[in-house]
Amino acid sequence: MAGKRIILMGPPGGGKGTQAKRIQERYGIVQLSTGDMLRAAVAAGSPVGKQAKAVMDAGKLVSDEIIISMIAERISQPDCFNGFILDGFPRTVPQAEALDKLLTEKRMDLDKVVEVAVPDERLIERITGRFTCAKCGEGYHDTFKQPKKPGVCDVCGGTEFSRRADDNAETVKARLKAYHVQTSPLLPYYEKKGLLMVIDGDRDMDVVTTDLIKILGA
Ligand code: AP5
Repeated sequence: MAGKRIILMGPPGGGKGTQAKRIQERYGIVQLSTGDMLRAAVAAGSPVGKQAKAVMDAGKLVSDEIIISMIAERISQPDCFNGFILDGFPRTVPQAEALDKLLTEKRMDLDKVVEVAVPDERLIERITGRFTCAKCGEGYHDTFKQPKKPGVCDVCGGTEFSRRADDNAETVKARLKAYHVQTSPLLPYYEKKGLLMVIDGDRDMDVVTTDLIKILGA
């Protein structure tokens, strides 16, 4: 599946990051998560990170200008030539239009846009129970995915874990609102282009992965 370019959409906590990591491994393409890029910028204390921090902590969307220039720079790097899976981008119609323009300039097409759909009432539990390995970033959940050996990362053996600053019930409500108001108009945008597929993300993670692979092909 060399050269595949995929957008993974879905509400906060819907499982985009979990599935994007699996797809990245399965197909040898790169996961491009704007959320991860912004958190790295915040941790580094860069000018972008300083501008983004308060917006992210409030559960609102960072400006299109910042996001578009971040993605334009990232997509131009050589590891993206063999394909990528966009996780959390685009999130507004101007971001989708900018992506179209960028891909046209690079003579690239999108292969599929997949929404992982999960009802709102499930998302707060998913987000407030989430934690990740501080060393390798592997994701876990208090209820749905505990490390096999308590306190030890299955992947790298790390023993320190962290929780995101925006993973609290109050901020999640603002993130959900942003998804419904600003991001959901992208569903008809991609449906009109004949690219959109929707899968039920309110099932076991492995079942969701199997469905995703069926959609994306061998
Ligand atoms: P971002 O990092 O993109 O966060 P998000 O969209 O809110 O999504 P999450 O990362 O919270 O969830 P996810 O769908 O990846 O779920 P996960 O797989 O972890 O963005 C953060 C912020 O950055 C935004 O609020 C905004 O401020 C800014 N930002 C980012 N991109 C932007 C953009 N393009 N424009 C403007 N601003 C932007 O799963 C969640 C938990 O559930 C995990 O613990 C997992 O183990 C568990 N889980 C996953 N799947 C299942 C399952 N099937 N069953 C049970 N549990 C499951």
